[in-house]
Amino acid sequence: MLSGSGCADFTVQCFDSGTATFRDTMYPDVERNSRRRSTPHFAILKYLSDDMEKKKFTLKPLPGDGLHLVVPRKLAVNYKNDLNPAQYEAVTSLDGPHLIIAGAGTGKTRTIVYRVAYLVELGVKPQNVLLLTFTRKAAQEMLRRAAILLDSRCEHVAGGTFHSFANRVLRKYASLLGYENNYTILDQTDAEDVVNLLRTRMKLDTRERRFPRKETLYDLYSRSVNTLTHVRDLLAGEYPQFLELEADITALLQSYIGYKRQNNLMDYDDLLVNLARLLQEKEEVRKALNDEYRYVMVDEYQDTNRVQAELVRLMAGQRRNVMVVGDDAQCIYSFRGSTIRNILAFPEEYPGCKIIKIEENYRSSQHILNLANEILRRGGVASVPRTPAERS
Ligand SMILES: Nc1ncnc2c1ncn2[C@@H]1O[C@H](COP(=O)(O)OP(=O)(O)OP(=O)(O)O)[C@@H](O)[C@H]1O
Ligand SMILES: [Mg+2]
Repeated sequence: MLSGSGCADFTVQCFDSGTATFRDTMYPDVERNSRRRSTPHFAILKYLSDDMEKKKFTLKPLPGDGLHLVVPRKLAVNYKNDLNPAQYEAVTSLDGPHLIIAGAGTGKTRTIVYRVAYLVELGVKPQNVLLLTFTRKAAQEMLRRAAILLDSRCEHVAGGTFHSFANRVLRKYASLLGYENNYTILDQTDAEDVVNLLRTRMKLDTRERRFPRKETLYDLYSRSVNTLTHVRDLLAGEYPQFLELEADITALLQSYIGYKRQNNLMDYDDLLVNLARLLQEKEEVRKALNDEYRYVMVDEYQDTNRVQAELVRLMAGQRRNVMVVGDDAQCIYSFRGSTIRNILAFPEEYPGCKIIKIEENYRSSQHILNLANEILRRGGVASVPRTPAERS
């Protein structure tokens, strides 16, 4: 190992000259000790130590920036052994955009867990990895599994739900958007109550006519935000009976927006929308976050909505080290505006992206798969993956 108190000296021999520091994260001592600057796209590092024999290490460009120390050494986890070939490819394929398509029980989450461990083993700082999922429990579970697989470094990977991540960032930067950083979050019930309060204040609900209930109104508003669709279009498509009330409904929603601003409140949708706005409008914040989160991973990408897909794009930044994992046949959060479109559009939005399909199913027994396939077939959707037994 290079790091540690035994370090005595470094000499760096370059085949190329220029200016760049060694930005290797695996062995911070390399950067600290090698004050000589160079831009070797390829260099040999000789490490001299009192009690260690001379060793050779190869430096290669880091994904996107800097140099990557490629050390002929044994990794702690036997990735090849623990993963099937498609999973292995996904885990060890590092740079650029990746779309992993896989059915239920094919080891999507396992793939992410192993990739977290792999990145950390390669020397990527855990806090430079961002893992986004749909429940806090899922995120914690993945990091816990990665920590068991490798070591406790994996617990320091930045992870959480889109909302908790947005909240973490906005607590620091919300003032740039005109909020106070100590804003209060409205959960769904709180938000519906505010809508109700304003509805009563505006005297919209009269005996003479039926006005939508607070739940319907909030759902309408939330869908409009999450799917980037105009309220009028949603009314026409889903609540045609309320189309004639469009002006009042829109006025109420405007009043809801104003109320939240005046009282320093954000509902769940605001967290996502405001993070997107922050990243779009405040370049310095976007750059800082892009520098911090060099690898972005998203599990259950099929459940993302338009705003979340936009957030992923902004967080991936110019480095575009983003891996999304999703199942194009399950889309459980459609009520929140999630859209299969995000998976289908991924290759277009990220030209040159690598698509990897994971097909072996480790969970379902064959008759369940047959049944599920039949249901999906009737619904005109892609098939459920085959079991390893079926493939062999
Ligand atoms: N290569 C493998 N070898 C052995 N077991 C595996 C392999 N890949 C996945 N499994 C096992 O299959 C099960 C399902 O894995 P995992 O939860 O990662 O799948 P998933 O695709 O994320 O499922 P879901 O669709 O429910 O999210 C787990 O018990 C996991 O350990
Ligand atoms: Mg999973």
